[in-house]
Amino acid sequence: MAKSSECHGFYKLSIEERLRFLKEFSGLTDEEAGLLRREGGLSLERAERMIENVVGFMPIPLGIAVNFLINGKDYLIPMAIEEPSVVAAASNAARMARPSGGFWACSTEPIMIGQIQAVGVKDPHFAKLSVLSQKEEILKLANEQDPVLISLGGGARDVDCKVLSTPVGKMLITELYVDCKDAMGANVVNTMAEAVAPIIERITGGKVYLRIISNLATRRLARARVKIAKEDVGGEEVVDGIVSAYEFAAADPYRCATHNKGIMNGIIAVALATGNDTRALEAGAHAYAARSGRYSPLTIWEKDSEGDLSGSIELPIAAGIVGGATHAHPIAKISLKILGVKSARELAEVMAAVGLAQNLAALRALAAEGIQRGHMALHARNIAVMAGATGDLADRIAERMVSERKIRLDRARELLRELGSQPA
Ligand code: MEV
Repeated sequence: MAKSSECHGFYKLSIEERLRFLKEFSGLTDEEAGLLRREGGLSLERAERMIENVVGFMPIPLGIAVNFLINGKDYLIPMAIEEPSVVAAASNAARMARPSGGFWACSTEPIMIGQIQAVGVKDPHFAKLSVLSQKEEILKLANEQDPVLISLGGGARDVDCKVLSTPVGKMLITELYVDCKDAMGANVVNTMAEAVAPIIERITGGKVYLRIISNLATRRLARARVKIAKEDVGGEEVVDGIVSAYEFAAADPYRCATHNKGIMNGIIAVALATGNDTRALEAGAHAYAARSGRYSPLTIWEKDSEGDLSGSIELPIAAGIVGGATHAHPIAKISLKILGVKSARELAEVMAAVGLAQNLAALRALAAEGIQRGHMALHARNIAVMAGATGDLADRIAERMVSERKIRLDRARELLRELGSQPA
């Protein structure tokens, strides 16, 4: 029987209990659970092979967002992030979405775009048609670069060209459309772009400079939607507040940047946990948000005729489950196992749903009680734990500090002495 990701009070469990839940849900081995506990799970030797000039590590906590139901399947979501409240907020939003069936997500084929820049082309519009007329030769050479990708059903699919007018003259940009299957694709696309550059020079008579992937992955989109009954979100007034928060973002780029930042809190945390290129995702998301010439929200929130809340998200998600750090980093491998995704598209769909959930949680908190209450509750619990409290006692100390509005280590220590000596 499929296991449920629903778990009330996951945050109240000890780390050992949480790991036991993970083992049950995702079939993690003792060794994998041990690696997770081992402050980063990455050896210096492996780190040395990942980047240059290694001197050590910068560990980030890995948390698990619970309650996610996406396309009828339960997911536990590994999230690597330094900011408190994000994992709890995602779990809360996923819990709100469950009664109406959770999130529904879909995606396009994983097509990435490689760009080849030719300058000094005398007749760029004529050259554009010459390049297009030799598309088959270009695709053939591109596809000779990665036989493994071809054997998996991927590869360069199409070629397009555009002429740009710039202060240093006209440029002919040739674009290669590559189905990257389960890889993020930067390596293969860059290799293909470099390989076909001599053909472009020969056809156009120009000089090729840049041969590089575009992170504005408009052919690799992920979408998710959710419908939530007004009672599950806190009533019609909260629905109105969320819709009005969305409209604020749609009308004002200053608010919109923060709105989209909240979405990326979720997406980037999953990307980091799974060893994906977070900068590529950020660049793609914000460029996509500005594609109309006006920076806009990546999500849309509406109230339907019953007064219930509908939300949707669409953005480029160039994330892979093979290649790069997804396999080189042992924790990324474990994160992918916890997620149980079978393809890069499934991962992108999960990320889109997490982004939508994160945005819902933020807008709901902002429209209802304000963001600080949730932040402070978590912050207070962290302070209580730092003071040495555990389990229920940490919760009680945190609650007291929040109600007194004194969230400080010295107060947590006092309360630990006071409450710790009382029967629970
Ligand atoms: C904080 O990391 C994210 C929020 O500011 C997002 C938002 O305002 O929508 C809460």
